[in-house]
Amino acid sequence: MSNPILSPRLMARIAVSLLFAAAAGQGLAAQAEAEAKRILQPDPATIATMTHEVKSYGKTKDGQEVKVHTLTNLKGMRVRLIDYGATLIGVETPDKSGKAANITLGFPALDGYLQRHPYFGSTVGRYGNRIAGGKFTLDGKTYTLAKNNGPNHLHGGLKGFDAVLWKAEPVSTQEMVGVKFRYTSADGEEGYPGKLDVTVTYTLNNANELRIDYTAATDKLTVVNLTNHSYWNLAGAGSGDILKHELTLSADKYLPIDDTSIPTGAPADVKGTPFDFTSPHAIGERIGELKKDPHKTKGYDHCYVLRGQQGNLELAARVKDPSTGRVMEVFTTEPGVQLYCGNFLGGGAGEGGFKQHEGFCLETQHYPDSPNKPEFPSTVLRPGQVLKSTTMHRFSVEK
Ligand code: BGC
Repeated sequence: MSNPILSPRLMARIAVSLLFAAAAGQGLAAQAEAEAKRILQPDPATIATMTHEVKSYGKTKDGQEVKVHTLTNLKGMRVRLIDYGATLIGVETPDKSGKAANITLGFPALDGYLQRHPYFGSTVGRYGNRIAGGKFTLDGKTYTLAKNNGPNHLHGGLKGFDAVLWKAEPVSTQEMVGVKFRYTSADGEEGYPGKLDVTVTYTLNNANELRIDYTAATDKLTVVNLTNHSYWNLAGAGSGDILKHELTLSADKYLPIDDTSIPTGAPADVKGTPFDFTSPHAIGERIGELKKDPHKTKGYDHCYVLRGQQGNLELAARVKDPSTGRVMEVFTTEPGVQLYCGNFLGGGAGEGGFKQHEGFCLETQHYPDSPNKPEFPSTVLRPGQVLKSTTMHRFSVEK
C-alpha cells in the first residue's frame, strides 16, 4: 500500500468543491470537475512526497502475517520497520559523498528475527536491561521473573516485547511519515503485574530525524522501562568494527556494575577513567582497559547517567564515523543511556554473522535494576498515569 500523505487533504478539497458545485448548479460543477482533475494530476513538485509503503514480510511460526513498513523521505533516508517486535530492521542514510548504506545490524529476512537473537533493532520491554535475581517487590508483594541472563532477568524475559506481533497503523502528516505500533501485554505476562497497553511510534521527517515515541498505561501497579536496541555501524552494517567511531556522551557519571552486570549503587565520576566521553573519543581508544582488572568486562556495557535530564528532549550522545563522515545525534527524555558495544557478538548465524564490536547500541532508558534501587529514578507505573518517553536520532554528515 502506498500512502500519499496529501491525499486526505486533497480528498477533502475535492469533496468541498463538489458539494459547493451541487449547491450552485451546473457551471460550478464543471469547475469542480476541472479542479478535481487538477488535484488528481498534481504538478511534479507536489508528487515528490515522503512515502510509507507496506508489504508482506512473511509469517510467524503460528501463521500470522508480518508486514514490513518502508518510510522514505526526500533527503535520501529510508527506514524499514516490521510488526514483529516493532523492530527497526533498516536505516539507510547518505555518507559525505551522497552514497547510501544501511547502518543498522539485522537479518536479510524474517526467519532471522523469529529466532532468539541479540535484539537487533528490537523494541525492548516490559523492562529494558536487568532486574537483579529476577525479583522485585511492589506494595509489599514480591514478583518473580525469568532468570534469562545468568542469575538475572534481562530485557523483559523469555518472550519480551521484541518477540511479539504488534498492530500497526500509519500516522503520516505533511511534516513526517510514520507508523504507530500497539501491543497489549496481559496481566502476569512474563511475571509482571498489570495489563499494560503500549504504543511505540516511529516517525521520519525531512530533517533526517527518526523519532521514537513511547506510551504505556497499566491497570495495576507495575514497572516499565522501554527502549530500542538498534546496533549501529555508521560506516555501514557489515563493514567491520566500530572502534574508530568517535563518541561524545552528555554524561559526567556512569553506573559501576558487579560481575553479573547489576549496578552496584551510587553513580561514579567518569573523569580520569576510560568511561569519560564528555569530549569525543574513539570507542576503541580505551576499550582494552575495560577488558583488564578491575573491570574485567568484554568492553563497554554500562549505563550512563545523563546530565540534567528533567524529562525534556535533550542531547544524550553524538557519534561520528570519520571514514564516511556520517554523524548520529541521539536526543532523549530518559535519564540514562546504556552504551553497549556488541561485546557478545560472536559471528554466528543467530547473530547475522556479525562479530564482536561490529555495532554499538545507545539504549536510552531508566537505569538497570531500578525496581530494586529506590534511590534511582522510579520505573513504577500506576493505574491512571500514562508513561511518555521520546528518543530522537538525527542523522547528518560532516566532511
Ligand atoms: C545488555 C548487554 C546484552 C545486550 C544484548 C544490552 O542491553 O546490557 O549485556 O548482552 O543488551 O542482550
